[in-house]
Amino acid sequence: MSFTVKNNIQWVGKIDWELRKFHGDEYSTHRGSSYNSYLIREEKTALIDTVWTPFAKEYVENLKKTVDLSTIDYVVACHGENDHSGALPELMRQIPGTPIYCTKNGEKILKGLYHEDWNFKIVKTSDTLDLGNGRTLTFVEAPMLHWPDSMFAYLSGDEVLFSNDAFGQHYASEFMFNDRVDQAELFQECMKYYANILTPFSPLVIKKIKEILGFNLPLDMICTSHGIIWRDSPAQIVEKYLEWADSYQENQITILYDTMWDSTRIMAEQIAGGIRQADDDVTVKLFNLAKTDKNDAVTEIFKSKAILLGSSTINNGILVHVASLLEEIKGLKFKKKSAGAFGSYGWSGEAVKIMLERLADSGFSTPDQGLRLTWAPDDANMAACRDYGKRFVQNL
Ligand code: FEO
Repeated sequence: MSFTVKNNIQWVGKIDWELRKFHGDEYSTHRGSSYNSYLIREEKTALIDTVWTPFAKEYVENLKKTVDLSTIDYVVACHGENDHSGALPELMRQIPGTPIYCTKNGEKILKGLYHEDWNFKIVKTSDTLDLGNGRTLTFVEAPMLHWPDSMFAYLSGDEVLFSNDAFGQHYASEFMFNDRVDQAELFQECMKYYANILTPFSPLVIKKIKEILGFNLPLDMICTSHGIIWRDSPAQIVEKYLEWADSYQENQITILYDTMWDSTRIMAEQIAGGIRQADDDVTVKLFNLAKTDKNDAVTEIFKSKAILLGSSTINNGILVHVASLLEEIKGLKFKKKSAGAFGSYGWSGEAVKIMLERLADSGFSTPDQGLRLTWAPDDANMAACRDYGKRFVQNL
């Protein structure tokens, strides 16, 4: 499969309908994904990025149906991660010596992954590659968006930004353009991608977008490396990124818990009831972490102004699904969010204190001591949970 993106730009990537886990098992992809690779054929021919390793042979065979490989003048590797560089060994075996344009860190990463001494050409921000016919690629380094080597390439003449991972989403679609797909699905996948991958780098996202906007370049399309191409109002996803990077939150409180014999679940539901009694506007959502996809939970946290974590106490500690989420959110460096904790215990009861300490270590403000109760809640304890929910929301 290949299709025309615009003029002499063709998509030559791979739609991966079957993908359900990405980055090993770290990222759930409920709607599959795509690895987007682009061929630009002007006086010179440039290939931007490739696809993930399992599709290397299929990719190169398909590419051969579109272009005589020997006519590719330049390969551009915007990002060395395996999902975009995985077909390079297969491709470069057939066109050895063809220059690969990448950043200094890109060369290090590609050498580290493939141990090949390809013909690397190192580029920096503002370096250009003339393709003829009034088309020039201008490179913009984007370190830590989201790897040290990441870079964008802007094609003048067509006014297309090749943004690699930025502005992308794991979303398989035959339509491949933002105006042809379900908007709710699209933006949910965009937000999930941002929340789970880009949140720690939000200050850099704002800085880089402002730098690029400062170039005052006309922008007709954004060609990402995953999911759809932004051709209808491409600035809309740039604006969304600026909003999401600025300590994003909605009027939502998310309660995330795990429970052994239901006592902590009952506490969660009573606390939610208390929040609702005190504030009829706030969205309250509950998730049992043992039954909830981790990346979906992170997306809900991303949307929240506050979270409440619940865990029974086990072996003087917390339940493993709660511990797993705490490890995840520590690295994500959320800002300007509050948190509380609760849990039922039998005799030692350390879980609430442990959760509050880890939440504080992860940058959440923890305005109270949380709520812990012994055994199963009776009527008085359920009232205490509702009171805790009321106090928690009133203190935000
Ligand atoms: Fe889609 Fe960072 O690779």
